[in-house]
Amino acid sequence: MKTVNNTTYKGTTVSVYDNKHEASIAVAQQIADLIKSKNEAGEKAVLGLATGATPIEVYNELIRMHKEEELSFQNVITFNLDEYYPMEPTAKQSYVAFMNEHLFDHVDVVKEHVNIPDGEIASDDVAAYCEAYEQKITSYGGLDLQLLGIGRTGHVGFNEPGSTVDSLTRLVELNEVTRADAAANFDGIAHVPTHAITMGVGTIAKAKKIILMAWGEGKAEIVQKALESEITTEVPATYLQEFDGVEMVLDKGAATKLSL
Ligand code: F6R
Repeated sequence: MKTVNNTTYKGTTVSVYDNKHEASIAVAQQIADLIKSKNEAGEKAVLGLATGATPIEVYNELIRMHKEEELSFQNVITFNLDEYYPMEPTAKQSYVAFMNEHLFDHVDVVKEHVNIPDGEIASDDVAAYCEAYEQKITSYGGLDLQLLGIGRTGHVGFNEPGSTVDSLTRLVELNEVTRADAAANFDGIAHVPTHAITMGVGTIAKAKKIILMAWGEGKAEIVQKALESEITTEVPATYLQEFDGVEMVLDKGAATKLSL
């Protein structure tokens, strides 16, 4: 049986589920509802997507809905949050490979509708490329829904501590904590890229709806800070407190340190 506890804390909806499986199914259902309602209106659904461990079950459920319930992605435009830099799209650690493996290869999304920051762009062209990424999002009318995970540093996307609230898509240096967390995927921290291209906090802020997901007690401390501490550049996820349309979707473990 599904148990969900919904609360609003300082304007943020906080939904706590018994476990990450139930939570992921509920998030996938929201995405499917958006895709279907946009389709009925003859419009595109513009999704901001995340990589990492957190959204994998959401993507699994979307694939199941595609295969068993005829959920179509033909009207879906996607923009991924980030990509390591430099990074070849064919490398197994690339976010291109991740998205293909966990979602795109299994649904009927139109290849030309998929946007992931280019980890191979020449360094001289990065600034113009990032501006064009922003403009492309705007040209589709902005993001209808942005999915987020949260890193141990409090990053969203790769907006590490020090990021400003109005930051846009740009090249950033990764925090050492973030690089350490990625080390297992790269056969050691020495192989983890030092940089990434990421949407900015300001890019995320413009999304019509933002869902930040976190699972397990390992995320409890940063989730508590993100929701309850003062807004600070030291924990970029705290910026979400002042954005509209934010839902934090947690399992019980990730909610253990909240005072709600
Ligand atoms: C991924 C991203 C990151 C992750 C975060 C949590 O595209 O932008 O912010 O969401 O590092 O990673 P996981 O889900 O692996 O714990």
